[in-house]
Amino acid sequence: MSIPRSDALVFFGATGDLAYKQIFPALQAMMLRDGLDLPIVCVAHSGWTVERLRQRAHDSLAQAAKNKGGSIDEAAFAKLSARLQYVDGDYNDLATFQLLKQTLGDAKAPLHYLAIPPSLFGVVVKNLKQSGCADNARIVVEKPFGRDLASAQQLNQTLHEVFPEAAIFRIDHYLGKEPVQNLLYFRFANTVLEPVWNNRYVESVQITMAENFGVEDRGAFYEGVGAIRDVLQNHLLQVTSLLAMDAPIGNDPAALNAEKLRLFRAMRPLDPKEVVRGQFKDYRKIEGVAPDSNVETFVALRLHIDTWRWAGVPFYIRAGKNLPITTTEVMVDMKVPPLSVFDEITLKNANYFRFRLSPEVIIAEGMRVKLPGEAMQGEPVELVARHRPQSEKPPYERLLGDAMRGDNALFTSDECVEAAWAVVDQVLNHEGPVSIYEPGSWGPAEAAQVVSGAEGWHDPQAEVKEPC
Ligand code: BG6
Repeated sequence: MSIPRSDALVFFGATGDLAYKQIFPALQAMMLRDGLDLPIVCVAHSGWTVERLRQRAHDSLAQAAKNKGGSIDEAAFAKLSARLQYVDGDYNDLATFQLLKQTLGDAKAPLHYLAIPPSLFGVVVKNLKQSGCADNARIVVEKPFGRDLASAQQLNQTLHEVFPEAAIFRIDHYLGKEPVQNLLYFRFANTVLEPVWNNRYVESVQITMAENFGVEDRGAFYEGVGAIRDVLQNHLLQVTSLLAMDAPIGNDPAALNAEKLRLFRAMRPLDPKEVVRGQFKDYRKIEGVAPDSNVETFVALRLHIDTWRWAGVPFYIRAGKNLPITTTEVMVDMKVPPLSVFDEITLKNANYFRFRLSPEVIIAEGMRVKLPGEAMQGEPVELVARHRPQSEKPPYERLLGDAMRGDNALFTSDECVEAAWAVVDQVLNHEGPVSIYEPGSWGPAEAAQVVSGAEGWHDPQAEVKEPC
């Protein structure tokens, strides 16, 4: 039986960071864009009142507007504020959920958003069911989904006891990003890529997710996670799957999911010998971080995909905090021509596809063209297929809307999330110390050894000419 469009939003963990930074701004934008017209019930165990919650929402929107150089739209906020309700209580206490049920009133198909630690998922879904709040409902859960393969399997089992898979929406906000969707679109809306998108023509693939800031005030959260769980298992393996999967048979979510799953399952479990973990200097002084912490704030690794298409093509992935810039970029390096006709030594890395996913969106192809003059010598240029500042609907706005409609195309399935954990499972146990790196550098020196060959890591700051 299909569930109707959600007619109420219930937000667990409403006094937390995610609500402040992402959810209130997303709800306000949805209200302005589509006239979001449903009750929004915020739930937390903080001893707050609805007035305090509304003040928090106001602060969140004022901050979001300030970040964009503007100021809060008070009239729009008044509309959102009128929809906000607040239920305070212990998640272990059924009475909290009975109060929630009462507050939901006539709503028949609520969407429950769990922005709470996964250790609380079990008790929350059980109490949702017992109180009748799970009837006809959908549930959205935040990443990281579990801590490893075993806990992800356990979580899936817990959720499935109450919700069918079609009603479960596992968020990975990278999938809601326009440039990430463009990877899939660009690959399969054009015919020119497919003939060369394999180990006959591709030399290697590099994915860099760099952030020029640290863990800010999230020391305690980050300490329980580290870079592998925070961004590799989810965001970066998802990007890899979109880059490397075979064409789905059609545009429906099930077909896409099936191909992604095949690709995740073809990823060889990471070999600890091919993984370098780093930690930026003075991370251990941050509040909430252990003084002898061995948690990585940087990771660089080599991934193998065991399919006919990708056998022998290394996928190099690195991610880190406190690196020189903030950007996420994919480089697909093509092989050199089989014969060197022009005797140039610079042909290496001449042909590539570059997908910059943030902060701006660039899809470019690296080529060589002849320099004017008698000699048959050339220079590198880029043919830019798309170049523009990011101007997308923010991912949370997109994903919340999709979940309310029951569209799970941009969410991670139970099987995919488990297959992605299986890839990283062997390198989660922090064997061996992390290598300390200077903030503002490209991570520990050992990261260079991950990339074989003379070319090393691509520098996302390198400038390449566009053809005149
Ligand atoms: C989050 C991580 O999932 O993604 C953060 O928890 C990271 O550590 C963030 O900074 C990056 O997302 P974005 O959209 O800013 O690139």
